[in-house]
Amino acid sequence: MSNYPERPVAVLFSGGDSPGMNALLRAIARLGLNRHGVAVFGIREGYRGLLRAARLGSRSEKDLFVMKQEIASRRGRWGLIHPEQDIVMLDHASVSGIVGAGGTMLGSARCLDFKKPGSRAEAVNLLKNLNVRALIVCGGDGSLAGAECLTKESDIRVIGVPCTIDNDLFFTEMAIGVDTAVGTLVWAVDHFKDTARSHKRIMVLETMGAKRGELARLSAIASGAEMVITPEGGPVTMDQLRKLAESIKSGMEGGRSHTIVLVAEGVQFEPEQYVPSASPDQPPGKRNRAYVLADYFQTFFHQQEGELKDLEVRPSVLGHLQRGGHATPQDCILAARFAELAWNSIMDPSERSGITALRNGRVELVPFGAPDMPERAEMSAEFSRLHASLSSW
Ligand code: F6P
Repeated sequence: MSNYPERPVAVLFSGGDSPGMNALLRAIARLGLNRHGVAVFGIREGYRGLLRAARLGSRSEKDLFVMKQEIASRRGRWGLIHPEQDIVMLDHASVSGIVGAGGTMLGSARCLDFKKPGSRAEAVNLLKNLNVRALIVCGGDGSLAGAECLTKESDIRVIGVPCTIDNDLFFTEMAIGVDTAVGTLVWAVDHFKDTARSHKRIMVLETMGAKRGELARLSAIASGAEMVITPEGGPVTMDQLRKLAESIKSGMEGGRSHTIVLVAEGVQFEPEQYVPSASPDQPPGKRNRAYVLADYFQTFFHQQEGELKDLEVRPSVLGHLQRGGHATPQDCILAARFAELAWNSIMDPSERSGITALRNGRVELVPFGAPDMPERAEMSAEFSRLHASLSSW
């Protein structure tokens, strides 16, 4: 097959999407074409698309041949308009105009099947049959764990790129998508503030962030939210709940016109049985944290005297709003820097597999399984203290 590229690089996006993924795809494709003269294969829907293609390609020699022929002949947008084609060779035009666009043009997926060693072996087999030089995996902790398994089970070169709004990867200072998500949360808090002030209300807003409170904490500092509750402090006990309510009360008595409480989705309560289920088949721990807190605070204020008794509490779960939207310049720049580092590592024969990371402001490749940067935990604690000092009344 004369027009099939010699040793292409493949890229996939996996797990929850994050703003800046398209900027990353564009940078990977353009650097491959413009700087290194290497073809870039975009794999649709993450590991799921990779496994679909692997199963198709392993059916027979003929199926593999047809797949390669399609990749070589239906390039760029021509390949992308064929939904059944899971691997598309990208050209300049196919990544044109997407730099800041939210989501991911190639699609992303969570893929439980990829946790099975047998499935990963199928993926390795396909990547070898396609003569892939390296695979770039862009995503959060689960996606990078899958990538690490590939490096242990095969000699395929794999480069991970941290993309998650959670900022819960502690080997890097920043992941692609965090800056945009914080901006979106600040925007959302501003809107809630307007209505909270008008009604002198308490708004409890639940943020994403998986098991960490990084996203909530950064957003609280940047938005001026009065209170932030994160999982790092351990499970919230009944005693702490009361203290939180007392603190809101004293702020309102002191003249606050409203209170915005940000609660990270990963917060636990102790005892969890306290948390009433929304329905009989829902386990207590699954109820949205914003509702749990809002119910508690509302009951607390109803038991007060005078005007405090009438204070109203409203919960909101901000949900997937936080993952969408146009990526900020900061995220697009980080995406370009990570893409450049990924390429430099791939083209350097002495380099191995690894993950791109931002450390002390510089981008560098760290090995899979690299320990957490101690500075990250220190910074979280520092941010909590800073927020407390900025928001006490
Ligand atoms: O990891 C990103 C994230 O948005 C988390 O903050 C959140 O817990 C989870 O993904 C939501 O996943 P899904 O999109 O599958 O509902």
